[in-house]
Amino acid sequence: MRALSLSLPLSLSLLAASSTAATTCAKGLYMVVARGSEEPAGTGVTGNLTSQIAAKVPGSEVVAVDYPASFDDYEDSEGDGVKAMRQLLNSYAEACPGNKIAVLGYSQGAQVATDTICGGAGDPFTSDKGMSDDVMDDVVAVAIFGDPTHVANMTYDRGTSIHNGLFNRSSSSIEVCKSYASRIVSYCDTGDIYCDAGSNSTVHHMYIQRYGDEIVDFVVSQFEKSTSSGSGSGTNATTTTAPAPTVSPTTTSGGNSTVPTRTGGPTTSSTQGSGASALTSSLMLGGLLTVLTAVSQML
Ligand SMILES: *[C@@H]1O[C@H](CO)[C@@H](O)[C@H](O)[C@H]1NC(C)=O
Ligand SMILES: *[C@@H]1O[C@H](CO)[C@@H](O)[C@H](O)[C@H]1NC(C)=O
Ligand SMILES: *[C@@H]1O[C@H](CO)[C@@H](O)[C@H](O)[C@H]1NC(C)=O
Ligand SMILES: *[C@@H]1O[C@H](CO)[C@@H](O)[C@H](O)[C@H]1NC(C)=O
Ligand SMILES: *[C@@H]1O[C@H](CO)[C@@H](O)[C@H](O)[C@H]1NC(C)=O
Ligand SMILES: *[C@@H]1O[C@H](CO)[C@@H](O)[C@H](O)[C@H]1NC(C)=O
Repeated sequence: MRALSLSLPLSLSLLAASSTAATTCAKGLYMVVARGSEEPAGTGVTGNLTSQIAAKVPGSEVVAVDYPASFDDYEDSEGDGVKAMRQLLNSYAEACPGNKIAVLGYSQGAQVATDTICGGAGDPFTSDKGMSDDVMDDVVAVAIFGDPTHVANMTYDRGTSIHNGLFNRSSSSIEVCKSYASRIVSYCDTGDIYCDAGSNSTVHHMYIQRYGDEIVDFVVSQFEKSTSSGSGSGTNATTTTAPAPTVSPTTTSGGNSTVPTRTGGPTTSSTQGSGASALTSSLMLGGLLTVLTAVSQML
């Protein structure tokens, strides 16, 4: 497969490589980040996580998806984000086959990530296919939070939400996501106005605070798993509930880095399901109004 992709015309590879800054191959993780609606250009709040991950995975590189992240022009913006993320991933995987990639996204950026990886959500959004196997062989972690196309009750869901998000996701796209379940974590809490179609705007802004450490641990452990087995891709974790190892701080000084050591132990617990129903039903009417309002604002 690699031989095939490498046999593309040289001029095409050069073109692809020169059109992005991603010409050097990161020894650690290449982290592709899509920010949320209206966050200033760059990585947005997700940069908090990628800087922590980079501190634990020496030789990592962080690149922000260059797209509008516009709220008022959501559909076009989101579509631009998917194209830009796809190009980053294709270019990097082609230039640096076998090097490890993590994809992170918040809010609109979470939808960008899901549409890019699993294929488009479908009308009114793109229905384009997800990334090729060649690229996905290198993607060791997809960590998103507050996705407006969140699908409830998937094994890769984290957080308390049991509702679908504001926008539908096509069943074909959901099937592709399921096939990558061991590499995905999608955080959504009850009440989130977008991913839970709820009525509490505060919830949408609390993921870093609530789950930042978990997300960092997940991405770091996925990287470690992929490199420790020595079997190349090594992304076929057997269960989605595998304990996320905690990682001791790495010391990095003057290019001298120690390999992170695992101390083991589950750090995540499933909080989905019981207990939330009384709260969610009381939020439902408000949630419906919010959905209608938000849809009319967005579309
Ligand atoms: C990241 O989040 C933590 C916890 O909220 C906060 O203490 C820290 O200042 C943040 N760091 C950055 C770079 O935003
Ligand atoms: C998810 O599962 C919960 C508990 O089984 C259920 O109440 C809820 O309706 C499900 N959500 C969706 C969108 O199917
Ligand atoms: C989502 O899909 C359902 C069922 O197909 C449909 O009734 C609903 O209008 C769709 N919602 C949106 C926001 O497109
Ligand atoms: C919204 O969520 C926040 C965070 O969980 C909570 O503190 C607040 O009470 C909630 N507001 C409403 C109106 O439920
Ligand atoms: C994971 O990969 C190894 C080596 O390729 C293989 O033996 C094993 O069956 C795979 N496990 C799963 C669950 O696919
Ligand atoms: C790395 O640390 C070890 C042990 O402290 C030391 O012997 C070695 O010279 C260091 N290497 C570099 C490149 O600094």
